[in-house]
Amino acid sequence: MAEATQRAILNGLGAVMAAWAAFATAGAEPDAKRISEIVANRCALCHGPEGDSVSPIFPRLAAQHPEYIAKQLADFQAGRRKGTMSDQARDLSPEEMRALGTFFSQKKPRPQRVRDEDLAGVGRYIYLKGNPFSGVAACASCHGPRGAGTVQLPRLAGQHAAYLESQLKDFTKRDRTNDNAVMHTIASKLTDLEINAVAAYISALD
Ligand code: HEC
Ligand code: HEC
Repeated sequence: MAEATQRAILNGLGAVMAAWAAFATAGAEPDAKRISEIVANRCALCHGPEGDSVSPIFPRLAAQHPEYIAKQLADFQAGRRKGTMSDQARDLSPEEMRALGTFFSQKKPRPQRVRDEDLAGVGRYIYLKGNPFSGVAACASCHGPRGAGTVQLPRLAGQHAAYLESQLKDFTKRDRTNDNAVMHTIASKLTDLEINAVAAYISALD
């Protein structure tokens, strides 16, 4: 083959490779290093490096469903869910949201200890059977018998009781409105005793 022809083929090949590389990078998954950096420099400060925050102000993310984490980040970014997290979510791409979800979903959950067995007992009843007297649906019917959640629904097991209480109150007051009112209807029928009880029970599930 003539040298010129060879060079032309190689040049052509080079152009194809460059075009492919550009195509493959657009919208590609962010690399693991970038995700570790975001976690270490930001998320970890509040949620803990393994998503197992010690302070009940910050929800645990360990073992949470990746789809739910990505949805919440998108909701915070779009202003559908409000709070501290809006700033954190502002510059994240959809790919990074998904990758952050995957990162935390692979971490080990750490259930808490029950402090008051009687209170948790009331919570167990609400969780598994709801409150048939006031028309509260059983939490288990959506969040699963052990609080594991699904692709569409959050995992609740092992979450901080105080965080669960704050969310149930926010749903009631419509301070949290990003779920099309499903949780509003349920939470607004719960009494303070029921909220505290069901949160105590859920926080000890593993
Ligand atoms: C300055 C502290 C802080 C930082 C940093 C932070 N968060 Fe948060 N995050 C919070 C607080 C507080 C909440 C609870 C918001 C509420 O009460 O509505 C929260 C809630 C969340 C939720 C919703 C959890 C649930 O169960 O609904 C997700 C998901 C989340 N954060 C992910 C992240 C990710 C990913 C990062 C890193 C990019 C991050 N957060 C950085 C404070 C923080
Ligand atoms: C009809 C289905 C359904 C039932 C029944 C239900 N939930 Fe939910 N729950 C949801 C959905 C959907 C979400 C996610 C909302 C979102 O996307 O922000 C949710 C979210 C939550 C959250 C927020 C979790 C977080 O990490 O921020 C808590 C807490 C919660 N539910 C508690 C309960 C409790 C307690 C009960 C029983 C009294 C209950 N749910 C019954 C559908 C349900």
